Amino acid sequence: MKSKCTTLCYIEKDGAYLMLHRTKKLHDINAGKWIGVGGHIEEDETPEECVRRETREETGLTLTALTFRGVIHFICPDETEEMFVYTSDKYSGELRECSEGELSWVAKEKVMDLDLWEGDRIFLPLLMSDNKFFSFALSYDAEGNLLSNPLERKPIVPGEKPADRKEMVILQERDTIAHYGEQIKAFGKRALIVTGAHSAKVSGALSDMEAVLDANGIHHVVFNEVEQNPSTDTIMRAREMGVMSQADFVIGIGGGSPLDAAKAVALMIYNHDEEKEYLYESRHEAHALPVIAVPTTSGTGSEATGVAILTRKERRTKGSIPYKIYPGLSLIDGKYLQTATLEVIGNTAIDALSHLLESYFNSNATELSNAYVLQGLSIWRRVKDAILGRREMTEKDREDLMTASTLAGMAIAITGTCLPHALSYTLTVIGDIPHGRAVGFFLSRFLREAGDEGLMLARAAGFFDLEELEGYYHAVCKPGSIEKEIRLQAVEAVAVNPGKLSRAPFPADRELLMRIAGLDE
Ligand SMILES: [Fe+2]
Repeated sequence: MKSKCTTLCYIEKDGAYLMLHRTKKLHDINAGKWIGVGGHIEEDETPEECVRRETREETGLTLTALTFRGVIHFICPDETEEMFVYTSDKYSGELRECSEGELSWVAKEKVMDLDLWEGDRIFLPLLMSDNKFFSFALSYDAEGNLLSNPLERKPIVPGEKPADRKEMVILQERDTIAHYGEQIKAFGKRALIVTGAHSAKVSGALSDMEAVLDANGIHHVVFNEVEQNPSTDTIMRAREMGVMSQADFVIGIGGGSPLDAAKAVALMIYNHDEEKEYLYESRHEAHALPVIAVPTTSGTGSEATGVAILTRKERRTKGSIPYKIYPGLSLIDGKYLQTATLEVIGNTAIDALSHLLESYFNSNATELSNAYVLQGLSIWRRVKDAILGRREMTEKDREDLMTASTLAGMAIAITGTCLPHALSYTLTVIGDIPHGRAVGFFLSRFLREAGDEGLMLARAAGFFDLEELEGYYHAVCKPGSIEKEIRLQAVEAVAVNPGKLSRAPFPADRELLMRIAGLDE
């Protein structure tokens, strides 16, 4: 199947959008339709570079500000398209004629009266509202008819799960939980909320969710005992509560641990007769209760992946379960970061940065995953100084952190992570070192192995060179010295795992791991 990555921009002036009426091109799939401006992302081009170039070519205007708003996955019978959507209200230059159609400013309230693609009618209202970021799929048949509206879901059947990552609906805005009660209602009548003891409560996310569940007559119970690096035993206790309360869907609220736990709990409630070993048996298909994810930290990206990482205490290891359980709906709100400490923000921001960089330097990287990474880095770098405490963190920073972290999740949902994550697990399980701090320890030396491209990506993240990145990590995560013995154990654990070594886009062996772990001097 053909697949392409594109951009689309709606330029705004005095309450109107610059719309392109496609009337000039021969054999134009968009013939007669009104759309924004944009086109294909070319090789070696970031999504933002693409939208600026396309705007210049099609309108003569130079965009001087650009807001990333979302990603639409178009699924057609013989083609898929991943479209990065932007709005812009700042530009220079004079509008000129376009070879693809007629350009005109159309008042926003009249835009919906135009001849639009059915799917555009779904995301245009989001662009015109306070929505900060969205991602969902629009499926069309061969005649160009939209098959369903992802924001108006039919009731979901337990055991049914999104066919793949593209079917996730991700919505970020202020008060997102309150705005999407109808969508939550489609998930079922009895919810099990899976969360930790702290952040869901103090951030207000738990009470926001309970208010919406109450208002919609959805019965709910709360399991609030998910610890950092949740164990399989915790999953089984939560499963018991879910089975007792006859939950038909699971809501994870919190950082990566509760969100990962929620996915595993959803799997085990559905498979309620199975023992905990089932969590690690790879021969079964993943059937689970539907999951909603609400992140209260901005690092794991778990709201955008099917991955659940659990700790197996008896084996003293940490690793992904072999099932992919994607949240059907992720509701993201930057306000939940308000109560997070700078330490948590710092550790999780380094985790998100690592996801972006490890996805790019990954043997599974694709055009799309790289586009997510480059867009994510462009957003992450804006918040860099606030993470360090060099300036006060604003509401916009918190929103940006959430978007960057979710994009990082979308990227690793395609590629998985790479060597810094693989090495980090020993540091966390044996040395009790928080995840972001453990991962970040290996990051700059990992990038060094990628040569010029490693430096290029560090620059895309806002660092002059790898030394600056290393200094930044130390200032943010304050790792102190991490014992050589633990680092050596980490190297030994990964060196014998060909699957993990093969994730690196360059030849990786024990010697290379020693260098990344700083054990080569
Ligand atoms: Fe991570």
